[in-house]
This record gives sequence, structure tokens and C-alpha cells, in this order.
Amino acid sequence: MSAATVQVFKTARRLLTGAKSSKNLAEEMRGLNMQRPLIVTDKGVQKAGITASMLRHLADAGMTEVEVYDAISAEPEMHVVEECRALYEQKDCDGIIAIGGGSAMDTGKAVAVYVGDARPLSELFGEDQVTPRKIPLICMPTTAGTGSEVTNISILSDVDAQLKKGIVSNELLPDVAIVAPELTVSCPPSVTAASGIDALVHAVESYLSNFATDITKPLSLAAIRMITKSLSLAYAQPDHLVAREQMATASLMAGLAFGNAGVGAVHALAYPLGGRFHLSHGVSNAVMFAPVMRWNRQACPEKFVDIAIAMGARADITEQDAGNYVLAMIELLCRDVKIPKSLQEFGITEDDLPELAEAASGVTRLLRNNPRELSVADIEAIYREAYQA
Ligand SMILES: NC(=O)c1ccc[n+]([C@@H]2O[C@H](COP(=O)([O-])OP(=O)(O)OC[C@H]3O[C@@H](n4cnc5c(N)ncnc54)[C@H](O)[C@@H]3O)[C@@H](O)[C@H]2O)c1
Ligand SMILES: [Fe+2]
Repeated sequence: MSAATVQVFKTARRLLTGAKSSKNLAEEMRGLNMQRPLIVTDKGVQKAGITASMLRHLADAGMTEVEVYDAISAEPEMHVVEECRALYEQKDCDGIIAIGGGSAMDTGKAVAVYVGDARPLSELFGEDQVTPRKIPLICMPTTAGTGSEVTNISILSDVDAQLKKGIVSNELLPDVAIVAPELTVSCPPSVTAASGIDALVHAVESYLSNFATDITKPLSLAAIRMITKSLSLAYAQPDHLVAREQMATASLMAGLAFGNAGVGAVHALAYPLGGRFHLSHGVSNAVMFAPVMRWNRQACPEKFVDIAIAMGARADITEQDAGNYVLAMIELLCRDVKIPKSLQEFGITEDDLPELAEAASGVTRLLRNNPRELSVADIEAIYREAYQA
């Protein structure tokens, strides 16, 4: 993007990072005048003891009027947002604290802009369709991760349309994001794997994006470097605090990068896999990652050199070798964290591919960021590669 264009860097208004930063929640709530919050979370996070530990922390700080909503599905469905808002209003809460992975945070963000809006939820989808947010919002990620704590989007599943849809607005940017690595330690390996590859895809796609800037590019490269070093370690040794801290910070940096530069064709082609075949967000991205990069490399070979170096290649690597290096590293990482490679392993048949391609070609919001333009036929060919992998 040209430096002559005015850019506004989007992020949460306050950003807390570092070990034990979760202990600052009560203080941050006071800063927002929040006394009767609704904690939006899910059963997995509850079971890991995270909500209980946060409730203890709040009780110690004298905050006892706290409600909890935990009936969130993975890839949250629209009725969850309706239910959650109803509870918020019924209990007369005065702010939202979303604690969890992308599913809990996206739900909390959607509820935060839906409170006080008389229109049906379906009218909030798309870009800038929401009214100014009327209640305070804090996000605390427990995966590393989606970066949702600093992005202006909430992704929900429309079950009837079998589609994932986004509410996109700066009103979704939280007042406070607390990225506390200790909250990710209890992540089961499969979640560490899927959300960690998602973070890597955010970093790589934001670096390759047509809208990458001088501010987002270093964030993307640093995240690539940290995730390449730490993901396998966090997967194999869940209690490894240094690896968890590196992953939490990298996920945040990748979130800041893609929240401003966008993601591309990997995400566009992953969406229909989530909507129709219910692959999780991270797994669907992982499956499409190498096939899309095989197509993208020729559009910007010099950027692949930077990515290869961030992934550990020698500084004098050639463009040809850099493309091969990046692809090999992506495949190695996905294998290390045991994510299946082929669409066939998810019960998808060859007959499904044209329909998937048709659906993905409609995700123009993301395809326009991709460094290589893709026709419907190109997209179908990429799905075929992922099918035959
Ligand atoms: N808004 C954005 O910018 C953005 C970006 C990427 C993805 N997303 C969305 O995020 C969602 C995926 O989020 P995710 O990958 O973080 O997974 P998730 O929130 O769906 O969580 C996956 C599972 O892990 C469990 N879990 C999470 N943290 C845990 C912990 N610390 N200990 C034990 N269990 C834990 C949850 O209970 C759940 O069962 C998708 O819906 C995707 O569309 C949003
Ligand atoms: Fe993602």
C-alpha cells in the first residue's frame, strides 16, 4: 500500500501482555466502571478451571455480582448470540468479559454490539452495519490463537445457510485485551495445534497481503519466527511456559498484522470447509495452507524469501529455494502437530469440489487481499490439490 495513503492502525484501546496479566482484570474493570459483568465463555474453558480462577480473583477484589454464560458452540451459531444477549439484559449486566478462544471472544464481541440494537442480528452482518457500542468489552484469549482480541471482526455460523458470516466494524475492537499466556497452558494438544497453525496462517497471509504496510510487515515476520520456533514445543510439552508465552505473543502480533492488512485465499478457501463440513477454523486453514502457498509463490517470490528467512533459512537463499523451503516448513509443522493433510480424510468427495470452489469464489472480502488473483477454475484446482494431498 502506498505511503501516501492515510492509514489508521486498528487495535484494542488498551493491550495488556505478559505472564500473570490475567490478575489485572479487576483493575481494568474498575477503569471501565464495570461492576456487574457477564463473562462469556465455553464449557471447555470452564472445565479447565479458568473461569473459576478468574471468579476467585474477582471475589478477592470485592466483585461478586458476576454472571457467567458458557453455552457456546465451537464456531458459534447465531442463536448463541441471541441467548447470551437475553441473559445479559435479564441480569442487568453492565459489561462483557469474553474469556476463551476465538469462539467465546467472537460471541462476546457480537453480543457487545448487539445489546441495545432493536434490529434482528442478521442485519448486523457485513461491513459497518452496527451502531456505536453502548457497553464496555474486555477480551481474554485462552488459545494462541485467533488474534480476535485485537480484530474488528466476529465470525458466526449461519446454520440455515450453511455459511460462516462476519460482522465487521471497529465497534468490535475491545476496550481492553488481556493476553495472558498462563491461560493457554491447559489447551489440549489438538487445540494448540489448530489454533497455532491458524496464527501462522494469519502471519503469512498478512505478510503477503496486497494491503500489508510498513507497520504490519514486521509484526507478521516476528510472529512467523516465533511460531516456527515454539509451536511444536507447545504441542509436545503443554506446560512449557516459554513456548506458551512465545505463542501467545506471536498470536497477538499476527492478529495485529492481519487485523490491519487482512488475510487471503487460505482463509477464503477454508471458510466453506467450516460452513459445510464443520472442520474447525484452524484445521480447515491448515489443510488449505500449503496448496494455496504453492499457487501464491510465483506472485511474490521476494516475499517468500523473507518468510523463509523468518522460518530459519539462510539469508542468502534464492527465490526458487525460498518457495520450496516455506512449503516444506508448512508441511513439516502441520505433520508435527498431527493435522491431516488431505480433504479426503474429512469425508469430502471429489464431487464436492466444484461447489466448494463456487462458495469460496464468493469470499471476495478476503480474495482481494491475496497476492495472486484466483478464478473459480483456479480455486477448484487448489481444492483438488488439497484433495489429492
Ligand atoms: N475474530 C477473529 O478475528 C477470528 C480470527 C480467527 C478465527 N476466528 C474464529 O475463532 C474460532 C476458533 O477459535 P479457536 O481456534 O481459538 O478455538 P475455540 O474457541 O473454538 O476453542 C476450541 C476448543 O478449545 C477449548 N479451549 C480453549 N481454550 C482452552 C484452554 N485454555 N484450556 C482448555 N480448553 C480450551 C474450547 O473449550 C473449545 O472446546 C472460529 O469460530 C473462528 O471462525 C475469529
Ligand atoms: Fe484465522
